[in-house]
Amino acid sequence: MMSGMADRHTDFDVVLLGATGFTGGLAAEYLARHGPPGLRWALAGRDSARLDAVRERVSALGPAGDIVDTVVTDVTDGASLRSVTERTRVLATSAGPYARIGEPVVAACADTGTDYADLCGEREFVDLMWLHHHERALATGARIVHACGFDSVPHDLGALFTVQQLPAEVPVTIAGYVRAGGGISGGTYHSAVRSFSRVRTTAKVAERRRRSDARPRGRCVRALPDRLRRGPDGTGWAIPLPTIDGAVVRRSARALDRYGPDFAYGHFALMKGLPVAVGTVVALGAVVAVAQLPPGRDLLLRARPVGRGPSDEQRATSWFRIQFVGEAGGRRVVTEVRGGDPGYDGAALMLGESALCLALDDLPGTAGQVTTAQSMGDTLRERIQAAGIGFRVVSST
Ligand SMILES: NC(=O)c1ccc[n+]([C@@H]2O[C@H](COP(=O)([O-])OP(=O)(O)OC[C@H]3O[C@@H](n4cnc5c(N)ncnc54)[C@H](OP(=O)(O)O)[C@@H]3O)[C@@H](O)[C@H]2O)c1
Repeated sequence: MMSGMADRHTDFDVVLLGATGFTGGLAAEYLARHGPPGLRWALAGRDSARLDAVRERVSALGPAGDIVDTVVTDVTDGASLRSVTERTRVLATSAGPYARIGEPVVAACADTGTDYADLCGEREFVDLMWLHHHERALATGARIVHACGFDSVPHDLGALFTVQQLPAEVPVTIAGYVRAGGGISGGTYHSAVRSFSRVRTTAKVAERRRRSDARPRGRCVRALPDRLRRGPDGTGWAIPLPTIDGAVVRRSARALDRYGPDFAYGHFALMKGLPVAVGTVVALGAVVAVAQLPPGRDLLLRARPVGRGPSDEQRATSWFRIQFVGEAGGRRVVTEVRGGDPGYDGAALMLGESALCLALDDLPGTAGQVTTAQSMGDTLRERIQAAGIGFRVVSST
């Protein structure tokens, strides 16, 4: 942390921005139930009456529920935002779509040396924030951690867990195979449609970052070829999954020597049969094509309002399972990360635990834009395991 900042960040351990939204509301409930007694925390948003309603709802849920404060701030008002980030150690935010309203929050945290955690799965936003705010965050000591939800905690920490089961200092190849069942919220849907409409810009921004971001010396990090393949042990079919997760795993590999001298990672969705796999690729391609032009995009956005998401009943039957197949030095290991509802209860758990981990745990010294594996690694894995996300070695030969 920069000198002169040591006296800041004393009012709160964690401020949660976006608590009046669907996922932020679940994160508020999570922190109320699982935050330690005495946690100094607050809900932040632009409407005090709605914030009070969330505070009322969470007050009886658990030890941290009746000690939560509220702070009013609007992301369009830089001064009010800064006055919040100056008061807290960690700002956790689910206020999205991030590409539309997220940058002032990252800027305020980078500027005031405040640790930051979000649920962003929008790759263009993450790369732009690196280009715009990484240097400033390095100077102030702020840890800017994007993708602290289902994007990309179980993938990032699952790949790290798999690497840890394999020999060190030899080339490592890992393929991650994701299966999940569950609904999506209006906020996630809007963020996804906006991302689909910006495929070309996203690639250009990624290229700008690639040109400026230092490569690790004497080590190589690669993506596995993006093509349809059989699933692990010949079961099912796997299609390349163009989510942010693969990029996050590879960024962790660039940052941490433990991933070895030559690390390759591929990220896939696992489908039972070939017709389903091909149908999914065709359907996704059609949605991406429709999202390219404003009328098509508006039509897609109107199909689902923001502020709502899957019901309690739907979330109770939702699930995810990620299998990692790792190979290194003649060894092969299969690991698994699994849990319940990935996108909402899971994301709320992962964002809540990431915020608590950054605020309260003894972690390696990092700063600037960092991944979950790089900044919190095993400490965060132990937290989410204790909260019910399973990590296990399935086989090792
Ligand atoms: N990676 C993951 O696993 C994962 C999972 C779930 C969600 N997400 C992402 O999280 C984001 C939120 O999703 P959601 O479904 O919770 O969306 P949502 O229900 O629409 O919530 C958005 C939140 O942003 C707040 N907000 C909007 N404009 C603001 C402003 N100018 N100042 C302050 N706050 C403002 C809203 O406040 P008001 O109530 O005042 O409008 C609301 O609290 C999306 O980007 C989604 O993609 C990611």
